[in-house]
Amino acid sequence: MIMIPAMATPSFAAVVLAAGQGKRMKSALPKVLHPIARIPMIQHVLAALKPLAPARAVVVVSPGMAERMLAVKGVDYAVQREPRGTGDAVTAAKVALKNFSGDVLVLYGDTPLITTGTIKTLLKARSSADLVVAGTRPDDPSPYGRLVVGKDGSLEAIVEARDCDAAQRAISFVNAGPMVIAASKLFDLLSAIDRNNAQNEYYLTDIVALARQRGMRVRAVEVPAEDMAGVNDRVELAAIEAAMQRRLRLKLMREGVTMLAPETVFLAADTRIGQDSTIGPNVTFGPGVTVGKNVEILGFSHLEGATVGEGARIGPFARLRPGADLGNDVHIGNFVEVKNSRLDAGVKANHLAYIGDASVGARTNVGAGAVTCNYDGVDKHRTEIGADVFVGTNASLVAPIKIADGAIVAAGSTITDNVPADALALGRARQVTKPGGASAWRKKHPKKKLAKR
Ligand code: UD1
Ligand code: CA
Repeated sequence: MIMIPAMATPSFAAVVLAAGQGKRMKSALPKVLHPIARIPMIQHVLAALKPLAPARAVVVVSPGMAERMLAVKGVDYAVQREPRGTGDAVTAAKVALKNFSGDVLVLYGDTPLITTGTIKTLLKARSSADLVVAGTRPDDPSPYGRLVVGKDGSLEAIVEARDCDAAQRAISFVNAGPMVIAASKLFDLLSAIDRNNAQNEYYLTDIVALARQRGMRVRAVEVPAEDMAGVNDRVELAAIEAAMQRRLRLKLMREGVTMLAPETVFLAADTRIGQDSTIGPNVTFGPGVTVGKNVEILGFSHLEGATVGEGARIGPFARLRPGADLGNDVHIGNFVEVKNSRLDAGVKANHLAYIGDASVGARTNVGAGAVTCNYDGVDKHRTEIGADVFVGTNASLVAPIKIADGAIVAAGSTITDNVPADALALGRARQVTKPGGASAWRKKHPKKKLAKR
């Protein structure tokens, strides 16, 4: 049998531009660290890159930013001292790539919708040109650099929006940002650009006209506009969040998850949901949630950092906070909050309860209003509840405390001592009942007549 190797993309290095102030964001947080689907937007760009296994990935950051990007792993950083434009930013990566002689792919950290497929298209196009530029046709081309394409179809120049004349402004084919070119040519061309333009910046885009002057073949390759939308202000941030949410929902639905009102479900980039699970309306997933198969999550539930076992039923109005680890067939009902707790298979907490810093054994029932009192104002303490326990309504379990298998905690109890297996624990004042006491009380407290207005 003849093995046909998968069409591998040639070895390349990626430079991801992430410095620059992002002035239009009006934020103390660097633009590329603003979250989309709960992770910094630049992480989406790096995730799209990862399957293509770049020989190197260099992220160009502003001073002090690398420290803030520790969550972003597996990349090198190059510091651009001042935000002097995209050309200057790529030049900042030169030292990091000094022993690299292959192709360089430049990406912008503010285009989180870019896909692996789009990047692959660009890398492959390098076989037919010395410099490949990603072009696109967005609904509104006004803010983008315009692509000036010659009669022979090759790219002649990129003119930034602010430097366009009227004829150039009318061009709808624009620069999406990414480029591919051999490292040696790239840094050669960059050393020749100046900052004589409307923004007094070194434009990466100026290498196109220069490359043409030097007789290089330059080509624009059209890529989908939706993939290339950039975030420049908070309005675009919201629009791209919405687009990312649509993508994440579609992916889950295609994997076999039912969503009754998908447009009202908010997902994190890493949300995992098993087949045949159903998500009701207005459910929000924070980062780090894994949901098993055949789970039903009813409306208005909020999950973050939680694991939910197969066949569980969550909500409506449930809150699973970080460290909530629910076994199979657990039921969590309305206004129940679970944090940093393991609930074994079949546990039920159907109404109005708080379970925090606890472990709860299989099949245990936690009654309405039951609370683990985990915090004494200084430290957090654990509550350990065994299997087949019945925790009565409105019980307060004052941690640290252990309630062993099969025990019953009576309703309304405040439990401060450990409860052994199979014991019945009551911790409440004995009731006093006075026959006829009600009418005696009313006689003493006659209803006041309301004064006429
Ligand atoms: C840039 C392109 C424009 C293109 C558009 C696509 C240039 C000169 N213009 O414009 O042709 O249509 O992207 O979205 O390249 N950055 C740095 N250092 C800097 C300046 C920017 O690292 O000094 C980074 C930014 O963090 C950002 C990216 O480069 O991730 C693009 O910068 P931005 O200022 O958003 O460029 P645009 O004006 O959008
Ligand atoms: Ca931009």
